[in-house]
Amino acid sequence: MAIGTETTVCGIVLHPAGHTRSPAMHNAAFAACGIDAAYHAFDVPPEYLGDALRGMRALGIHQLAVSIPHKEAVIAHLDRVDETARAIGAVNTVTLGSDGELVGTNTDWIGGLRAIEREIQPQGRRAVVLGAGGAARGLVYALGQAGAEVWVLNRTQSRAAELAEQLGAAGSGGLDELSDREAEIIVNTTSVGLGSDESPVDPRAIHAGAVVMDAVYVPEQTRLLADAAARGAVGIAGKWMLVYQAAEQFRLWTGREAPTEIMANAFDREADA
Ligand code: ATR
Repeated sequence: MAIGTETTVCGIVLHPAGHTRSPAMHNAAFAACGIDAAYHAFDVPPEYLGDALRGMRALGIHQLAVSIPHKEAVIAHLDRVDETARAIGAVNTVTLGSDGELVGTNTDWIGGLRAIEREIQPQGRRAVVLGAGGAARGLVYALGQAGAEVWVLNRTQSRAAELAEQLGAAGSGGLDELSDREAEIIVNTTSVGLGSDESPVDPRAIHAGAVVMDAVYVPEQTRLLADAAARGAVGIAGKWMLVYQAAEQFRLWTGREAPTEIMANAFDREADA
């Protein structure tokens, strides 16, 4: 679709610019749905974040995605943060209300939940989240909302304990406690495996039939997912979390269901680019 004077601008703020697949996914969705909008990646250093948000209001940009390192800092620049984003402590989506209010929400947790639901319904399941950073918070919240019994395991156990307490998880411990948990759902949110052939856990701690999702998506087939397959577990690639969180942003903004397969294909094309 040609960009014209009526084209709506939206996008993502992040720093450094790096390589984000969000523009590819959203622009593919806009094109497929005949929506006259263009999605741009804005490299915004921390000292300009407030200016960027004020600019959003001034320019009438309806929605901005917020990525690393701004997901927590952005809260100070918003008029309102919804209950979910407040519980998670991070905002990944800012919407401009008709009254000019900047409202923060979080779609990362929904992305994680939808991705898990491709393979299993979490209700009543034993789930383990590996890691205790920002990504872990979203997943612990998501699994808790979906009715799973969630344990948080992390290299630094005190961080896991703090997160578990704040978000009402069932318990916490170290990464070597995975085998004790007999987890039916395992989600890795640590950075272990990112660009390397390492896993955060011993493969023997993964049970056959478990569902294992890795938030790390480069490489797409991580060591953890390869171990899971070898153990007879079901793997879910981290790309689905990104596709579904973007799909939820699309739905919030347009009020329409997102073309998720088209967005996933755009994500894959970027990987090959
Ligand atoms: P994010 O916000 O993306 O989740 P983060 O807050 O930096 O990022 O968290 C990174 C996670 O990866 C943490 O859980 C971290 O464990 P610690 O809390 O012990 O630091 C985990 N992590 C990073 N490198 C790791 C490693 N080599 N082994 C095990 N865990 C690691």
